[in-house]
Amino acid sequence: MVDLAIIGGSGLTRIEGFEAQRHETVNTPFGDASAPLMHGLLDGRQVLFLPRHGVEHHIPPHKVNYRANVWALRKAGAKRIIGVAAVGGISSQASPGTVVVPDQIIDYTYGRKHTYFEDDLTQVTHIDFTDPYCESLRQLLIGAAQQAGVPVVLEGTYGATQGPRLETTSEINRMERDGCDLVGMTGMPEAALARELDLCYASCAVVANWAAGRSEGPIMMKEIESNLTGGMKNFFKLLSCLPSDASTPSM
Ligand code: HPA
Repeated sequence: MVDLAIIGGSGLTRIEGFEAQRHETVNTPFGDASAPLMHGLLDGRQVLFLPRHGVEHHIPPHKVNYRANVWALRKAGAKRIIGVAAVGGISSQASPGTVVVPDQIIDYTYGRKHTYFEDDLTQVTHIDFTDPYCESLRQLLIGAAQQAGVPVVLEGTYGATQGPRLETTSEINRMERDGCDLVGMTGMPEAALARELDLCYASCAVVANWAAGRSEGPIMMKEIESNLTGGMKNFFKLLSCLPSDASTPSM
């Protein structure tokens, strides 16, 4: 039985050690997911993998069909989802290469299809989102990182921006004043949609660069790529220490 899904972000279109078994194209009422779901084994555990930006990394953050992705994973049996995301570091502990397991979100995105509760409703529905991530999965990720000896930041506020451009220095200054530790483009509405479907969702943020204005000069794509390569190695180490018999999720 598959229970765990991983949504891969920039720098993660394939998982080291993942033995693919089959691809599944899932129909959803919201259109197509970013790619067929990949079923396979990771350290002997059955896992589903979905590259958020498509297999060829061609779907930009604001064009990702988040509703179809999360729906498809649930339909295929996922009960918990690890959303892997490349981010820029705003606060000093979020240095490039570090893995952060955020505990809060501020959503600055706009115009995205961000809810399942809009059409054909018999009743208006509001989900609780006080704690946007699934705490039991967050703790599993943190425990696995610590066991793997991977430097991990145990909490932080993820600021979700619209993209695809990076931010200005003033935008990052404002986000810092708001309390954001990280900036990324894909954390929302993914987390909220998972909550709407009662799935246990947590994020593993890999810091790719210092956010705008937090280092000398412009942000270089080469720098992002090389930090992501190192950061993803850390993520793979963490994954190898995830307990395979972890009990049923609770929010
Ligand atoms: N800003 C937004 N998203 C990102 C960044 C950034 O600096 N780095 C990686 N994803």
